[in-house]
Parts: sequence; C-alpha cells; structure tokens
Amino acid sequence: MCGIIGYIGKTPEKVLFDGLKKLEYRGYDCAGMTILRAGKFTTYKSIGKVDSLKEKLFFNDSLGVGIAHTRWATHGKVSIENCHPHFNNDLSICLVHNGIIENFHVLKDDLVKRGKSFYGETDSEVVAKMFEHGLTIKKVKSVVDNLTGSYALLMLDKTCNDIYFAKNKNPLYIAFDDEKVMLTSDSSCFNDIFDSFITLEDGQYGKVSLNELEIYQDDKKIDRPKVTKCFKSKAIGLGKYSHFMLKEIGETKSVLRKAIKFYNARGIKNIFKNLPCGFEKVVLIGCGSAYNAGLIAKGYFIDAGLNSECILASEIEYESHDINEKSLCIFISQSGETQDTLKAMDFCVKRKAYCLSLTNVVHSSIARKSHFNIDLSAGCERAVASTKAYTAQVFHLYILAFLLKNRNSQIEDLVKEIKEYIDFENIEAKNIEHFAKKYLKSRLLFFIGKGKDSILAREGALKLKEISYLPAFDLPSGELKHGSIALIDKFATCIAICSQAKTLSKIASSAEEIRARGGKVILFSSVDAGELEDCFDDVLYLKSSGKFDIVNLIIAMQKFAYFVAIKRGCNPDMPRNLAKSVTVE
Ligand code: G6P
Repeated sequence: MCGIIGYIGKTPEKVLFDGLKKLEYRGYDCAGMTILRAGKFTTYKSIGKVDSLKEKLFFNDSLGVGIAHTRWATHGKVSIENCHPHFNNDLSICLVHNGIIENFHVLKDDLVKRGKSFYGETDSEVVAKMFEHGLTIKKVKSVVDNLTGSYALLMLDKTCNDIYFAKNKNPLYIAFDDEKVMLTSDSSCFNDIFDSFITLEDGQYGKVSLNELEIYQDDKKIDRPKVTKCFKSKAIGLGKYSHFMLKEIGETKSVLRKAIKFYNARGIKNIFKNLPCGFEKVVLIGCGSAYNAGLIAKGYFIDAGLNSECILASEIEYESHDINEKSLCIFISQSGETQDTLKAMDFCVKRKAYCLSLTNVVHSSIARKSHFNIDLSAGCERAVASTKAYTAQVFHLYILAFLLKNRNSQIEDLVKEIKEYIDFENIEAKNIEHFAKKYLKSRLLFFIGKGKDSILAREGALKLKEISYLPAFDLPSGELKHGSIALIDKFATCIAICSQAKTLSKIASSAEEIRARGGKVILFSSVDAGELEDCFDDVLYLKSSGKFDIVNLIIAMQKFAYFVAIKRGCNPDMPRNLAKSVTVE
C-alpha cells in the first residue's frame, strides 16, 4: 500500500500535504516529506496520520521540488527511522517508495559488505542506498534492473530540480502544465489542479522537470504517451454524518438507482454488445469484501445455468482449477489496484481466459488491463471498510448473470423486476444501534446463516472484525455443532441471518443450541419468524421485496458493525492496521 506524491511548482509543502490527505486511505502509519530548494533538502517526518505532519511543516509559497509519502508498514515497525523519504549514504539522493522489494535481504547484505550503513529496517531504504551520487536515467535503470518485486518510486537529487521515477506493478501517474508537475499513486490527486494526466505502465522509468518529460521503456524513449482527461471533483464532505462509513452506507440506495438508470438509458444489450458469447465457465475473483461479493454472485451465475466458481485472488496459483480460453474470469475490486487481484489477472491472461473487471475507479490498473470493464459508479468510498461499493458489486453481478442467461431479453423487463427489488424501506437505524449497545460486552461475536445467508454472514463478520477489532467468525449454521459450539459461553453473541422462509426452523434450532449454552442470539430476518421468535433473544425485521432483498440485510450488518465500532471508541473510517487499497502481495 502506501501513497506517494511528487511535485514541482509553487507552494510545494501545501500541495504535497493536500495530496497526502487524499492518499491517506492507502496507509496511515506515518507520513513524511522532503522539499528541495536551492540545493538543500528539508525533511519532515511524523508518526501517525497525515494531520500529524501538518504542525511540523514550514509552509513556503516559493517554487520548490518535493516528494512525500504516507505509509502502511510492510517491512519494519512504525518509527521515524522507517518513515519515508529515505536517503542514500551521502544524503544527496532521497526517494519515496510504494511496493515491496522481495530481494531486499540479498541487496542489503551486498550493500553492507560494500560499507553502506542503514538507519532503519525497510526494503525502501535499501533501494535508496543503492544510489551513489548524481542521479541519471541510466543509474535509475541499472538500480531497478536489480529489484525483484513491486515499486512505484520517486527520486530527488540535491543537484537538480528534476523528479526521477520508475514503476513496476504499483500505480503511478504524471500530470504537468507550464507552471507545475505532479506524480502520484492516485490520479484523483490531479482533479481541479490539472486538465489531463499520463498513466505510466509497468517497466517505465524516466524524469520530469518543469520543461520536459522523458519516459523510457527497455532503454527506448517513449514518444507520445496516451493522455487521459482529469475529472472535476465534487467536494466530498461528511454532511450530516459523523463518519464516512455511515454516510456511504446511506448512499447505497441512490447508487443502485443510478445503476438502474444507466442500464435503462444505455440498454443492457448495447452496453455488453462487445462481450463475447460461448463461455463454458464463469470464474469470480477478488479479495476481502470483493471476494464475498463474488461468492454471492456465484449463486446468480449458477442459477443462470452457468458453471461458476469463486476464487480468492491470493489463492489462485495454489488451487486446482481449469481456467482456459473458454473461461470468463471476472475480477472484482473496488479500488482496481489490489495487487493480489492484479496478479490473479496475469495468471488468467496466461491461460488465455477472457478478463472482465468490475471496479469503482475507471483508470485503475485492473480496469485498464482487463478486456472489458464494468464501472461500478458507486462514487468515491472514503471509509476503509467497503459498504456501498460491495453492494454495488453484488448488484452489477446480478445484472451480468441475468444478461448472460437472457442475451436477447428486453431491458425493460429486467428494470421493472429490479426496481421492485431495491424499492426497500429505510432501515430503522435506532434498533441496530440499540443492539450494538446491548451486546457490546460480548467477548465473541459470530454470524450464522444457511445457503446464501451464510455468505452474507461472512461479510457481516468481516465488517465487524475490520472496524471494531472484536474476534468475529462466520459459519453455516449446521456446522456449529461440528466444532465451533465449543467456543460458546455466556459471553458469546450470535447474529443469525435469515432471508429464506425454508431455513428459518433450522436457524431457530441452532439458536436454541447456542442459548442452551448461555450464548445470546439476535435474528436479522426478512421473513416473519412467527412463533419461532421465542427461540431468539432479539429479532430485527427487515423489509423484503423480491430476490434482491439481501440489500436490506447487508445494510443492517454494516450498520451493526458501525455502531459496535463507535461504541467501542474505534474510528470506523480508518481502522488500525488496514488500508483501503492493498497494493502489495
Ligand atoms: C482491503 C480492504 C477491504 C477490501 C479489500 C479488497 O483488504 O481493507 O475492505 O475489501 O482490500 O479491495 P478491493 O479494492 O480490491 O475491492
């Protein structure tokens, strides 16, 4: 993860600080910045979130060159020594790095033998120490040729006002005009500052100054890199909400309505007209919540008569499967930058599979590399835990499964059907907040369900773990008695999910088994429990309407996790140890 940014122009401290704030979702263990003016480096470093850097900064309006970094620790503890930028031995060159240098131990041993000393434990410092003095394109190339792993690198040399760069597997973008230059991990940093930007591809390196941009690949200069237009960004504030997570959960309904409008206006057949037919198998691939969305969607594709499986991106190399030229591989990723998912895509490309992606960032690496991208259009998701984007993923996959089954059907039929599914009532937040408070003292929380509800349970447990740090797990209710029941005592609370009348009695039996051992059970249900209500300590009813009624259950689980986190004093928008975009393996 980590976010990097470089800038040449006036007020560099301010521009870089504002940029770091935008990149903070990529990691917030510590932040640092180095500014070069009149041949002198000034460096600022600070532990914790980007705001902690602000009080240390000396803002200066004059022209300068700078690089900055917000860290998600991979190698080495969170400390000032390990905070970027990192310097070479004679302190003439500094760099910021996003990625992982896999062979850094070997490189470090070699550098130590050659008399280089180290102040920290990071792989990034090793790259800095590989430079002597006098940065040139040739030297950058010879250093990166020795690196194994992933990197987006920005480098400064005291003796010139250029920013050198190199990219492999981690995102890097450049924008410039007559007065300023910016390089960054996320193109949204350019919005409202530049009109257009360039996306660097793997293996590219070069340098940029106020007058000139040079990009190389395989020792050859690239002539005309493709330019993409920047967006005009809408200011994203909290409005009436206390946290982005709650705000984003609240936006789910409008995101789904917007998607329906889009499909309706453009016509599903038109949108997908370039999507080939005749796939023998659908393989859904993702990480975290995106994988959980894939698990739900697997059922949609199977119901549509398609052979389907869902694989964790990080496991694809180690599992048995038969991905080939007849496979439709669907890569699900909110950020579009998840390194495990990108690597899984390379794996599938090698097997000649057709790659379709579902991302929330149109210019992202996953979107660019796929044969076909579906834009989630869920709007910027600021909170680390995915909420509205997860629901949008499930929804778009539902549409896709429908399309693959009914290639000739009319859009009107589908829209009518779906509109009914998402015309759900708002969930009464107060009840959920009440449950969160009531069961706050539980030492163990777990989620159960049957069939598709057990997959929802999986996302419920993930959300809770991510933001409240409570041990939480999930399992199909029938599995409880085969082991996990040993964990239950009076400190355990179970959230039972039920969206299917046929599973209610089974869920009720599991609830009885849990309660017999002192545990508590809350039922989140979209079906009427009737007399079986007595089997549960509490029941939260959620309005149901048609097949897409899982939306209500998803929102309820997300809100439950949110309120538990708040009541435990955790910041749900920036949970500890996590980052929104995971650009390392
Ligand atoms: C991280 C986040 C998760 C997210 C996962 C996949 O682990 O903390 O919330 O679900 O990455 O991210 P993606 O951007 O690929 O959907």
